[in-house]
Amino acid sequence: MSIISKDIEKAVQLLTDAQLVAIPTETVYGLAGNIYSEKAIHHIFSTKKRPFFNPLIVHIPTVKALEKIVTHIPEKAKLLAAAFWPGSLTLVLKKNSSVPDIITAGKDTVAVRIPNHPVTLALLAQLPFPLAAPSANPFGSISPTKPEHVARYFKNDIQMILDGGSCANGIESTIIGFEKETPILYRLGALTLEDIEAVVGKITIKNKEEESPEAPGMLARHYAPKTSTFLVQDVAAEIKKHTGKKIGVLVFKTTLNIPDIIEIILSRDGSMQEAASNLYAAMHALDAQQLDVIIAEKFPEFGLGKSMNDRLQRATFK
Ligand code: TXA
Ligand code: MG
Repeated sequence: MSIISKDIEKAVQLLTDAQLVAIPTETVYGLAGNIYSEKAIHHIFSTKKRPFFNPLIVHIPTVKALEKIVTHIPEKAKLLAAAFWPGSLTLVLKKNSSVPDIITAGKDTVAVRIPNHPVTLALLAQLPFPLAAPSANPFGSISPTKPEHVARYFKNDIQMILDGGSCANGIESTIIGFEKETPILYRLGALTLEDIEAVVGKITIKNKEEESPEAPGMLARHYAPKTSTFLVQDVAAEIKKHTGKKIGVLVFKTTLNIPDIIEIILSRDGSMQEAASNLYAAMHALDAQQLDVIIAEKFPEFGLGKSMNDRLQRATFK
């Protein structure tokens, strides 16, 4: 029997028994466990081969549930939660003592969000505990946006992948923390900087490890295919540097019409939203083709383009 299933009751049962279940969200699939079960949380870290210094995101069903895990909610956090939850926004807030240290890597803050996926909202509503869920991929590799991606990574390690179809947004949530009461962006993501700034004003970005020990895990190389990957403005020019090699290209909207090259167009309509929802599936597909190189076209540096460039940059060899 396939481990990919739509059976929410079974997911409830497994999670209650301290097992892991891969869950759908609107961003990417998560590898979920009960935040209060030491066994489940250890299992998440070992399955992903994730270093313990990298804290997990806690998923809750309602704003009410937030009060059980944090001690203080800055005014601007309230505005952001009201504007974007359920949705692709993770808030990093002061945790209370009920949140185990292993979830937060010993930090006094906890990252939390209400995901916007009907299946996972229904699941969370039936559980008496929140779910810790990092992206359901081995540490450093491409995040999964379809149940099949998770199965390829973990079919021998977990008992169930809760099927919620393809992830609509396709890249991870945007992470906002607070210094004093001021919001700081730790990770670009599926919610655009412009949308956030429309609610709380200009935001400082600290999404590089060297800038922000506050945001561990913002590693320069991450989200990476096994195939060497390049991110460039001019794909045709880059192709010429790799003659004789087996090349795959990832373009935004316009075909290059070059023979003998495997090409994926992310959105023929030039929609960044559509491109984001297709991005990781395209990277998974190219990475499975035994290519010598993958060449990706840079997106315009605004909106979701900025977030996609961030991920593609971290996918490249430097
Ligand atoms: O869209 C998402 O956020 C997905 C879905 C499954 O919800 N989850 C996800 O989790 O991307 P993960 O573990 O792949 O990324 C979590 C990021 C890490 O980079 C980690 O450093 C950061 O969240 N993080 C977690 N707790 C933090 C904290 N207390 N302070 C700063 N950053 C934190
Ligand atoms: Mg991840």
